[in-house]
Amino acid sequence: MKKLIGAAGALTLAVAAASANAACDSGEVVVKLSHVTGGTTHPKVVAANNFAERVNSELNGRMCMEVYPNSTLFGDSKELEALLLGDVQVLAPSLSKFGSYTKRLGVFDLPFIFEDMDAAIRFTNSATGKDLLNSMNDVGFVGLGYWMSGMKYFSANKPLNVPTDAAGLKFRVQTSDVAKAMIAAMGASPQPMAFSEVYGALQTGVVDGQENTWSNIYTKKFFEVQDGVTQTSHQLLAYFFMTSQDFLDSLDADLRAEFLAIADDVTQQANLVVKEKEETNRANILKAGGTIRELTPEQRAEWVEAMKPVWKQFEDEIGADVIKAAAGA
Ligand code: SIN
Repeated sequence: MKKLIGAAGALTLAVAAASANAACDSGEVVVKLSHVTGGTTHPKVVAANNFAERVNSELNGRMCMEVYPNSTLFGDSKELEALLLGDVQVLAPSLSKFGSYTKRLGVFDLPFIFEDMDAAIRFTNSATGKDLLNSMNDVGFVGLGYWMSGMKYFSANKPLNVPTDAAGLKFRVQTSDVAKAMIAAMGASPQPMAFSEVYGALQTGVVDGQENTWSNIYTKKFFEVQDGVTQTSHQLLAYFFMTSQDFLDSLDADLRAEFLAIADDVTQQANLVVKEKEETNRANILKAGGTIRELTPEQRAEWVEAMKPVWKQFEDEIGADVIKAAAGA
């Protein structure tokens, strides 16, 4: 690994992203980590940078990692294909983006299945949760761990206190059938869209609202183009920290073991600090003038009730056993 490249030479966004990376020496295995989030306080940004720092110091001379945030290398629509093609080696997409590869990860999208992030972490540490890391091995994807991001909250261009307030509105969702069904259950219209397009779509009125974590709502400035955010905590956002089997097979056994050990450590660390990052970004939204609405217990009960039918709808494709394990975590 050589010294940092100067930012002055950066000509394109992708080069600008790479300019924050150390230049790799010839002979080092170059590992590209691509993701779609931004800012400095976002839990995925922090985890990805931590992973790169660890690899670049502990495996210096043998492996060199470059991080490309903000969809600068690949966005939502291309990153999984790019991993299979070997154009990128590490990703951490939202668990909601794997519907064309496996239906089982849909369990993470079921509304109100996790009381909070601690329950989600308990589930991911259970035998069923760990098994889901192998749910796409047949495709060539290898799950390295789950990086938590936070609970999700609805925002819109009008106040949302109860689900009927959302009736008739258009909400951006990730490419998840469960999320689409959840929005439909509110009498609203789901619009699947890449993460990089959400701010523009909210600003121009292509959609009326969206659902996301405090960290995404703050770092992507969604709160600036919305009436407010309602603290629904209706769903989890977490990431499938992943690589490809082809990449792992290309490493010699020692390097592979060291790479996997660092990945494991970084995952533990990421999940220890995620709540603090989320709280920081909630406070950042308020400091920047955003509006956050909290629900009364009665209002929350209305959201839970409206979304109840969604679980039954996906029971067959997710598996009743998987749903039971997640709900009981
Ligand atoms: C992410 O946090 O990686 C993106 C989430 C989204 O697409 O809403």
